Amino acid sequence: MALSLIDYPSRLKLAQVPTPLEFLPRATERWGRGKRLWIKRDDLTGSVLTGNKIRKLEFIAAHAVDHELATLVTCGGVQSNHCRATALVASRLGLGCHLVLRADQEEAALTGNFLLDQIAGATFEILPAARWGRELKTTYQRLEAEFKRDGRPALMIPTGGSDSLGVWGYIAASEELKADLDAHDIERAAVALATGSAGTQTGLTAGVALFDVPASVTGYAVCDDAEWFNRRVMSDWQASVDRWAQLPDITIAPRTRDHSVGPGYGRADPSVYALITDLTRLEGIVLDPVYTGKAFKGLVEDIAGGFYDDWDDIVFVHTGGVFGLFSHSGHFTEAVRTRAEPVD
Ligand SMILES: Cc1ncc(COP(=O)(O)O)c(C=O)c1O
Repeated sequence: MALSLIDYPSRLKLAQVPTPLEFLPRATERWGRGKRLWIKRDDLTGSVLTGNKIRKLEFIAAHAVDHELATLVTCGGVQSNHCRATALVASRLGLGCHLVLRADQEEAALTGNFLLDQIAGATFEILPAARWGRELKTTYQRLEAEFKRDGRPALMIPTGGSDSLGVWGYIAASEELKADLDAHDIERAAVALATGSAGTQTGLTAGVALFDVPASVTGYAVCDDAEWFNRRVMSDWQASVDRWAQLPDITIAPRTRDHSVGPGYGRADPSVYALITDLTRLEGIVLDPVYTGKAFKGLVEDIAGGFYDDWDDIVFVHTGGVFGLFSHSGHFTEAVRTRAEPVD
């Protein structure tokens, strides 16, 4: 089903798009095994207001503005890229921002995304991991009532901005990807990306079908398992179709790989830090250990294992996340030492 003209919901211009699609010559030589490796630079959607979340927030923030909601409330890990992006978007638009952050110490290290949240003026509360599952919903209910009572009604944004509003970000990005493939004479491509709350994967999986993009989409889980993500993509897509009359009720077939999750969300094997270091030195492109580094590792392993044998061109979507590096600095000691080229 091809949509010739899509009727997008209200949208603000926040992201620097279209982002470049770039060929990776040295990574191709190192890991490509006869396939060409490309990168879609969604890490360039902005400088600090950057990454995949900005594409979603264009639609989410527009909804808040249209409905005169004065506060953006969202949640995530203490180093969440989505929370940082939301805090900065709120400042940019003159809105308030309140974050519910998952952390086990009251005084989480003031670095990376958490530092930017606070520079941006977001207020926050910490919810320890053990209470997160039980208390997030009631925390949201309390905050919604409080902000309403204070005359600063809030848009309650779910984890990662992944819902039937945020999905539009990567539906729109799929249209952009189609133009990228055309511009680079790529006949068909396997697209790989990190998936954490499934919104980017849902938008791209549905978007390539909606716009007849000659691509298959594979999400690399950074937590949970493949089955969880496949179910989540299906249910988020169904919710989107139910909400938006302009979205046709097409059947989508999500595909998730979960072999590079490693020790769990926010934690990575030494091989991920080594791979981040290697790619940076080969191409000047920096991934993060929580999302893109893990996904790239899964992709490299899948190329070696034959998963992409039917494809000549592979596009890795760089979804951003560079600020997540800084709270992991201690884990890079080995990678940066042992892989440094000797200097004469
Ligand atoms: C850098 C980065 N990449 C990928 C993702 C995954 O996106 P999604 O939550 O839409 O699955 C996130 C989400 O937090 C992210 O911050």
